Amino acid sequence: MTETVIPILDLREHRYRSMASGIPAELVPPTGLLSDRRGRPLHDLRISVTDRCNFRCVYCMPKDVFDKDYTFLPHAELLSFEEITRAARLFVAHGVEKIRLTGGEPLLRKNIEKLVEMLARLETVSGKPLDLTLTTNASLLARKARALRDAGLTRVSVSLDAIDDTTFRRMNDVDFAVRDVLAGIEAAQAAGLAPLKVNMVVKRGVNDSEIVPMAAHFRGSGVIVRFIEFMDVGASNHWCMDEVLPSAEVVRRIDAAFPLEAIGANYLGETAERWRYRDGAGEIGVISSVSHAFCGDCSRIRLSTEGRLYLCLFATEGHDLRELLRSGRSDLEIANAIAALWQQRTDNYSEQRSDPAIRAARAERKIEMSYIGG
Ligand code: GTP
Ligand code: 5AD
Ligand code: SF4
Ligand code: SF4
Repeated sequence: MTETVIPILDLREHRYRSMASGIPAELVPPTGLLSDRRGRPLHDLRISVTDRCNFRCVYCMPKDVFDKDYTFLPHAELLSFEEITRAARLFVAHGVEKIRLTGGEPLLRKNIEKLVEMLARLETVSGKPLDLTLTTNASLLARKARALRDAGLTRVSVSLDAIDDTTFRRMNDVDFAVRDVLAGIEAAQAAGLAPLKVNMVVKRGVNDSEIVPMAAHFRGSGVIVRFIEFMDVGASNHWCMDEVLPSAEVVRRIDAAFPLEAIGANYLGETAERWRYRDGAGEIGVISSVSHAFCGDCSRIRLSTEGRLYLCLFATEGHDLRELLRSGRSDLEIANAIAALWQQRTDNYSEQRSDPAIRAARAERKIEMSYIGG
């Protein structure tokens, strides 16, 4: 494979490889079944539609790095909606059943509902509608929920790291109020985007006092809160193990206030372990990438804003799908290049994180969460 290094568009160099050499001489149509080297199917495509965000969450886009001098991707670098939809169609032909739009903040991408409408027309290999969802900070959700639903979005996941306003403002670091996120959640529920999930990243000593209040607030509302261990994504979020609160402790604290019982996964490869309130007030989830890796069933592939594919959230290198999309290649050729890429995948960073040598080797080179999405 040839390797290229693009000019520095931000503080790091994004390394990526051409995918052209993955196109075999004999082309095979997609069968809807694709497995990587560990036998993991491809089910979940996560598409980042912008690397920009209007929040500066301390665990994701800390202000000392993402400041006024930070260079985001220029518009010409972004995949167009037509390019994204063409790529998505090929992934769906390979068996993808869920598409999640991410960012940065995906609702900042102009006319995002148009893209939703284009993607909503795709059908799974077995002829069903896709699970089409989006991860958002909800700052624009109250305004856009109805249009997104009308365009065919199935559901949304909202990031909210505290129910206490002071703590939340400290986490988002742009003085955004809890009240406005709650208004977005209500609008999404009223529009029928369900089930609505709330993602809370837990940092020990920063917002862990909010675990039980968050559970208390959303119990009985139909909203599923998921508590996420603070992860060492990217190279700029000042991660340290001391700030990770293991999910077992999250469950222990909630269970002490509102008794819980474990329930099974919704689907193979689900990120969250699910628990339900014994009194019937709904469910919560914990996402334990640090204390309990879930790479074994990981069926996720990520498409970056400017069209590079990443086989893992902690990858250091992308694969240049955009080059294929923009060089007159046929759908069949591109589908075959995607198949070749997935079939040689071995990624499992969360399983390897405890090895200091591996952690150190990747430390400065991992892609940022705001670039590839959550
Ligand atoms: P559902 O489709 O509702 O099950 O959501 P999801 O958990 O697949 O997606 P979501 O974007 O809500 O994920 C929640 C959080 O889990 C993300 O923001 C990440 O912090 C983390 N996460 C998601 N996918 C991965 C993954 O593949 N690896 C790791 N380590 N963490 C992930
Ligand atoms: N650790 C865990 N989750 C993170 N997210 C962003 N950065 C991190 C991190 N360092 C996730 C959050 C947020 C989504 C957009 O990305 O879940 O809701
Ligand atoms: Fe923006 Fe989401 Fe990152 Fe916060 S976590 S800075 S809302 S992309
Ligand atoms: Fe998948 Fe990589 Fe996350 Fe493991 S660390 S679950 S391989 S994205």
